Amino acid sequence: MGSFTSSFCSLFSLISLLLLLSNMSCEAQLSTTFYTKTCPNALTEIRNVVRRAVSAERRMAASLVRLHFHDCFVQGCDASILLDETPTIQSEKTAFPNINSARGYNVIEEAKRAVERLCPGVVSCADILTLASRDASVAVGGPSWDVKLGRKDSTTANRARANTDLPSPFADANTLISAFAVKGLNTRDMIALSGAHTLGQAQCFLFRSRIYSNGTDIDAGFASTRRRQCPQTGGDATLAPLDLVTPNSFDNNYFKNLVQRKGLLQSDQVLFTSPSTNSIVLEYSRSPSAFAADFASAMLRMGEIQPLLAPNGIVRRTCGAIN
Ligand code: HEM
Repeated sequence: MGSFTSSFCSLFSLISLLLLLSNMSCEAQLSTTFYTKTCPNALTEIRNVVRRAVSAERRMAASLVRLHFHDCFVQGCDASILLDETPTIQSEKTAFPNINSARGYNVIEEAKRAVERLCPGVVSCADILTLASRDASVAVGGPSWDVKLGRKDSTTANRARANTDLPSPFADANTLISAFAVKGLNTRDMIALSGAHTLGQAQCFLFRSRIYSNGTDIDAGFASTRRRQCPQTGGDATLAPLDLVTPNSFDNNYFKNLVQRKGLLQSDQVLFTSPSTNSIVLEYSRSPSAFAADFASAMLRMGEIQPLLAPNGIVRRTCGAIN
């Protein structure tokens, strides 16, 4: 009986071990060393492409960071935003938050071509976009972080979800908190990530109602300056900097602006006005290092929303189309 029990236990342990091992080998995981053996120079190549693009046009850093955000919030960071329209794909590029607005597609395609020359079929567009947003931050004086890699590219896009899941510039603080919470990001992450608006530009029609509101949550001098290039009718696409002080460098001026009621978008200013987010804005306005550290960790978490892992997904040969 004793020997039967011990043989049974050994068999049971063996089966458990085999099950554990088979599980481990099937469930791919993101890892910082994912391409170390299969494409050791990919990361340097991508960084060089991003550096060149940002030195040709500083705003490109902003555009790449935003492109990654708009990818991750729609069915996870799977490069779905990069897919062009086909009879079977409803491209996210033409969703309201992206059309005539999202930029940087060509830089990602250029980086893809560069890594395809080195090691064809290995590095996913989703990983390239994730790395490019980190490299873009660094290129304009922002923090760095160790990107975990191994995402696969989707074979689908979802324009409808791009329209619903990407937050509106007219949203209030609680709506913004919920929009990030459903993606697994907390209020602090949401505020740190909104700090990406230390970079880049926005179009007049997206902040017009705010600058003509005569509200108490906007500095009168700031409103009048912005009105000069954003009339009540016309000039919809005219750009203004999201951070009026230093739109081309990563710093905490965005939060200092909010404290002075000089946020450009309504969704920026509410972060200071709302009691649920006000103290974190104040903290970041006083501490550039707290903001930079939280931005880096929030970007890491954002990059890990619903990763598409092998055996699912593909590595696209070009980012705009499925193979
Ligand atoms: C909190 C909710 C957010 C809202 C409502 C929002 C909304 C917007 C809007 C309306 C624009 C201007 C678009 C245009 O004029 O065409 C913009 C630009 C930008 N957004 Fe956001 N955003 C949010 C969060 C984020 C996050 C999380 C990031 C990145 C981590 C980000 C990065 C950027 C950047 C860098 C720009 C400038 C892009 C450029 O100049 O090309 N935003 N955002």
